[in-house]
Amino acid sequence: MEKDLFGNEIIKDVLLRDKFIEPPFSVLDTKSGNWQKRKREWLRKGIKSEIGRKAPVNCSSLKPLKGNAERFVGKETSIFDPALCELMYKWFCPENGKILDPFAGGSVRGIVAHYLKYYYVGIELRQEQVDANRENAAEILPVNNRPSWHVGDSDLILENDFLYEFDMIFSCPPYMDLEVYSDDENDLSNMTDEKFIEKYKSIIKKSCSKLKKDGYAVFVVGDVRDKKTGFYKDFISITKQAFYNAGMSLYNDAILLDQLGNACMRAGKIFDSGGKLTKIHQNILIFKRSA
Ligand SMILES: C[S@@+](CC[C@H](N)C(=O)[O-])C[C@H]1O[C@@H](n2cnc3c(N)ncnc32)[C@H](O)[C@@H]1O
Repeated sequence: MEKDLFGNEIIKDVLLRDKFIEPPFSVLDTKSGNWQKRKREWLRKGIKSEIGRKAPVNCSSLKPLKGNAERFVGKETSIFDPALCELMYKWFCPENGKILDPFAGGSVRGIVAHYLKYYYVGIELRQEQVDANRENAAEILPVNNRPSWHVGDSDLILENDFLYEFDMIFSCPPYMDLEVYSDDENDLSNMTDEKFIEKYKSIIKKSCSKLKKDGYAVFVVGDVRDKKTGFYKDFISITKQAFYNAGMSLYNDAILLDQLGNACMRAGKIFDSGGKLTKIHQNILIFKRSA
């Protein structure tokens, strides 16, 4: 055991990676070589999570959207990070555990889960998104090992009893009105902040009511600016409040450092025009049941 000058044990970084895939620190860097290698390996399996989703409404100039977990590549919408899915499942879900995702979006969280022998149940409002997800899963996974996606409003679907409790909740919700996915009246992304918060709290409460006592709930979120005032709406606190309201307590929180994309090109102009920092991170909030 190597010791430093003061006799403290030296924990070698490599060891942590070997054991945990990435060092279990509260800052996760998606730009690192190891992370990018893992992400490429997943994408090489044929994950196409962007399919089924129109290019976001409020980004006609195709600049990457500030502060959302999914980044643009060229002209189409890109995908939730499969390397992040693998890590969160590895760290916060028991082997072969059951995962609930109340805002499924694209196929990536489901496909990575089943590829790693977990059971994934995703709920997604938009039929076309679920059709695309099922198609992509059929391209990668055998018929007897595929995620189950339910189409509809999570607030209604979570009223029903699932046959079993879940070991983990893992999701990336709509960031309020940052990106509007549809004009469906039950779509949180086209609601007023007030209506969004009310329904968001309800869906989170119903999701947590199906979580095992010692289960983790992991949400990837990013703050959103009010389009008129430019002030942040503090979506992070709104999410925390929704989970506290569901009897959960914050157990870990981490910063996910995004790839820079063209942030360097935009940052100067953005700061000059209003003193705003260009967002290159997401927040990963990890809750456990407090009682
Ligand atoms: C794509 S993910 C969000 C990903 C990430 N936060 C982002 O901003 O890029 C959100 C998904 O939630 C879905 N959604 C919105 N309201 C919903 C509801 N009431 N029930 C189930 N899914 C819903 C949307 O259709 C969308 O596909």
